[in-house]
Amino acid sequence: MNVYDSARMADSLSPLGFEETLAPEGADLVIINTCHIRERAAEKLYSELGRLRLLKQERQAAGGKLTLAVAGCVAQAEGAELLARAPFVDIVVGPQSYHRLAELVTRSDDGARGLMDTEFPVEPKFDSLAPQRHAEGVTAFLTVQEGCDKFCTFCVVPYTRGAEYSRPAADIIAEARHLASLGAVELTLLGQNVNAYHGVGPEGADWGLARLIEELADVPGLARIRYTTSHPHDVDDALIAAHRDVPELMPFLHLPVQSGSDSILAAMNRKHTADEYRRLIGRLRDARPDLALSSDFIVGFPGETAADFEATLRLVRDIGFAQAFAFKYSPRPGTPAADRDDGVPEAEKDARLAALLDLLREQQDSFNDAMLGQIVPVLFEKPGRHPNQLVGRTPYLQPVHIDTSLMRTGLLDKTGMDLIGRIAETRLDERNAYSFSGTLINGVEQMTETMMRISA
Ligand code: 5AD
Ligand code: SF4
Repeated sequence: MNVYDSARMADSLSPLGFEETLAPEGADLVIINTCHIRERAAEKLYSELGRLRLLKQERQAAGGKLTLAVAGCVAQAEGAELLARAPFVDIVVGPQSYHRLAELVTRSDDGARGLMDTEFPVEPKFDSLAPQRHAEGVTAFLTVQEGCDKFCTFCVVPYTRGAEYSRPAADIIAEARHLASLGAVELTLLGQNVNAYHGVGPEGADWGLARLIEELADVPGLARIRYTTSHPHDVDDALIAAHRDVPELMPFLHLPVQSGSDSILAAMNRKHTADEYRRLIGRLRDARPDLALSSDFIVGFPGETAADFEATLRLVRDIGFAQAFAFKYSPRPGTPAADRDDGVPEAEKDARLAALLDLLREQQDSFNDAMLGQIVPVLFEKPGRHPNQLVGRTPYLQPVHIDTSLMRTGLLDKTGMDLIGRIAETRLDERNAYSFSGTLINGVEQMTETMMRISA
């Protein structure tokens, strides 16, 4: 979601004449969009700010100016504390008020110092931001829901992003149409708790995520729909049915479970047991047998015993994940779990994380190996790092590289770049660490045909 938010910030500043640049050295304004989910993410801000402070001083010494803004959830959580610790920061803006960034930048240019906006304004920020979206390529993010009311005991999100809010369906559909007109073929619907989506539909009815997905599937040009991140407790029958009935909905689901131990899940306030998660996955797989799964895990939550951790490994073995993320528990200020004094020793956390990552890696490798030799639809997104290389993704988000110099067919121009934004059947020939090298099947077929004609 920070990627989405950063793009919206850039859009909102373009009327002031700002253009995005990739390096801070030539920039007039640097915005650091931050994450507060784990301590390490938050600490990154201060090392980055140390470097930018020097840049700002050099600029000032040369008679110039560099405006520094800190956005996102660290800005929200630390606010005034951040300004006290880093007084050279000009603007602090939270994730729910960044639509006022242009105004803050103008005030900063007029000489105001230490500006801070970390309110949760009543006026929805999307109204002022969404219509200005610029082209973002073949695959685009679209925020449909924000905030969270679940209050897992380890998590800062309900405090930094605020209460659950669902955008009206008509606004989302309009934004999706706009993105499709700019060339988007794939949309990833975003929300901290995206399947809690219940927005007002065009006729005033309440729409759930499934209804929204069905509608978006009909937007001309959109061929692939994904959503992230969802909560097991909010997967309803309609969403399961959408996985069965909507071909545009990709058969890949990120559904965090966090732990396989019921007592840890209860202490986390997750509102589901390990078996409920197993049964839910069973129902999803009944609806969509080729569904692949991803998840998030936290190891070393306070009070987690060796037996609790074993239960997590058991759950992973039972489900079989195509990929997953695992994190060491990181106490976050203000969350209930941070007050507990039965923390797991760091060395034990490290050992559990390593064991879990090993198992997940094994599962990911075998999922990928099972796809070798298969022909799958790949959506090509952009040129690769090497000449004549194109990169795309399978329905399971696996990156695939093809060498277009091997394909001399009517389907491709000289460079193969006209494949960007198209879905083409591709054979997965070789597996690298996390990606595949593939061959375009249409190309091969056409090539064989030509060769046959020549030899005839
Ligand atoms: N410590 C470690 N991991 C966390 N996550 C959220 N809060 C914490 C924390 N305090 C993880 C969860 C969540 C993912 C986005 O980040 O697994 O699903
Ligand atoms: Fe955080 Fe997700 Fe739990 Fe909400 S559901 S509190 S975002 S971990």
